[in-house]
Amino acid sequence: MSAFPLALPDDAEFSSRLAVRIGRHWPRLLEALRPLYGSGAWEGELAARLLSAAIDRPADLRDLDAAREAAPDWFQQPGMVGYCTYIDRFGGTLAGTRARLDELSRLGVTYLHPLPLLKPREGDSDGGFAVADFRQVDPKLGTIDDLRALAVDLRARGISLCLDIVCNHTADTHGWALAAKAGDAKFRDFYHVVKPPEQVAALEAHLGQVFPQTAPGNFTFVPEMGGHVWTTFYPFQWDLNYANPAVFIEMMDVLLYLANQGAEVFRLDSAPFLWKRAGTDCRGLPETHQVVRAWRAALAIAAPAVALKAEAIVGLAEVLPFLGDADRPECHLAYNNTAMTALWAALATGDTRPLSTCLTQALAKPAVAGWLTYVRCHDDIIWGALKGVIADETLAWISDFYAGTVPGSFADGRAFQAEPGAVRSTNGMAASLAGFRDGADNRAALARLRLLYGVTFALDGIPALYMGDERALTNDPDYALEADHEDGRWLHRPRMDWARPEGAIHAALAQFAALRRDRPGLHAANPARPFVTADPGLLAFDRGGGDGDRLICLGWFKGQAARIDLTDILGGGTWHDLLDGTDLTAQSVAMAPWGLRWLVKKDG
Ligand code: GLC
Repeated sequence: MSAFPLALPDDAEFSSRLAVRIGRHWPRLLEALRPLYGSGAWEGELAARLLSAAIDRPADLRDLDAAREAAPDWFQQPGMVGYCTYIDRFGGTLAGTRARLDELSRLGVTYLHPLPLLKPREGDSDGGFAVADFRQVDPKLGTIDDLRALAVDLRARGISLCLDIVCNHTADTHGWALAAKAGDAKFRDFYHVVKPPEQVAALEAHLGQVFPQTAPGNFTFVPEMGGHVWTTFYPFQWDLNYANPAVFIEMMDVLLYLANQGAEVFRLDSAPFLWKRAGTDCRGLPETHQVVRAWRAALAIAAPAVALKAEAIVGLAEVLPFLGDADRPECHLAYNNTAMTALWAALATGDTRPLSTCLTQALAKPAVAGWLTYVRCHDDIIWGALKGVIADETLAWISDFYAGTVPGSFADGRAFQAEPGAVRSTNGMAASLAGFRDGADNRAALARLRLLYGVTFALDGIPALYMGDERALTNDPDYALEADHEDGRWLHRPRMDWARPEGAIHAALAQFAALRRDRPGLHAANPARPFVTADPGLLAFDRGGGDGDRLICLGWFKGQAARIDLTDILGGGTWHDLLDGTDLTAQSVAMAPWGLRWLVKKDG
């Protein structure tokens, strides 16, 4: 292993702390990257960028680094509650969002993920996921100074800012892409260009398609590049070439730059796709994990307050490697998308067994990592993530159920595009998928929405709200009237309706958040352990740790009330439901339609 090649600055206290971090993480960085890039001049460049970011780190963030190094489980604390939104749809601008922060604090929010807010390409930008400049904010939303000010305001309220790092691709109008198009060899090597058309076909034979209708294929012919550019998503999103160490270093520099503006969590967008190898599906390759591990080590040196979150919306077996292990950590957090998907499946079928299976599989998560648990987000619900857990025909039925085409379905969603033969994923706001229709009797729909969020808040991890769910905001059926919004996912990206009454769901969410905060047993190191229940309509799982703080969550996924004997799960004694304040014994537990209970053992 090579020593860090540069001298540290003259500031004794800072340098001694930095030297400890370098001693620990520089070898890890090299260990992750040398198998990819060999030893070479890139190492000096990497060290220089790291050191300069560490030196540039503002004093308040250096303090945060020290605090987080002393309490590295900060993101696992039971008080953590997330919120995800679009800045333009929530507060108009960054300044307007700063004026709305009371709304978040009232819900107990401690983690805010605004969807992409960096400067996007003009025209369609896939909702901001085609970034034209990683160091500038979208001028429609504000400036980098506004972003820093938002981060400061949030931090003062104990809210951590999470930013998207769109690391798989840039916009075709990013400076690197423009230079590449203009013939600059250095930047051509930032992208994948495939020249012989038969090679495109050979690669395609192994690749899936993300948007088979709106963006078929994985390559786009670009005359100025003299061939086909690799474009996994939209043709204007050019995949980066991580086989080039300069790409790794530039993206690391982006992470460190945004960390120094006050971001505390990074969502690694489309993480599975980073590395390409011909003859594979290019998803979750071992080299991709080495890249992520190396970013983790870089942050541990220059901005240790910051956590990484993997956006890998695939089966659990492919998600878990993104959390690494004790010796080779990767992300701190990952979306528990299989639990989310299985929750919706249970709501449609009344069968919670696949959800229990997913929770059992999720026990393989390292204790030091956390899940991001959620009900909805800005993307479609991808049923394919449950392949192997639920039969394909059932998944297809569930997809139809949420599209509202199954007789008796309560749902008001739409099917999204899929490859021929694949199950179509689902678009729609949570309230609409749960059957909420403005002006109708929505008691059952609200109970369903509360059930989904109540289970999510009882799981291990950071429960994240999706904008508008707290007011049961419904679909935006007119989404396609807006320019560049043909993509069906805009159905569930409505503008926040601040005039909409808060109602029962807002109160329920605030209650869940408040109850979580005071329960040490809900620390994310204590996983959710599902019980086998006699009736598949009943979900039951245990949360708790060695300190004796234990909670049992019950979720009833049927529309008829029931009385259930739970002696085998609860045993004797009296239990107290934190949600409705009643006491009960195991022999006859009443569950309301779509009912939810958070039970704790009553003293004495
Ligand atoms: C992620 C985003 C999605 C986007 C894609 C390409 O999956 O969540 O919205 O289309 O990456 O950046």
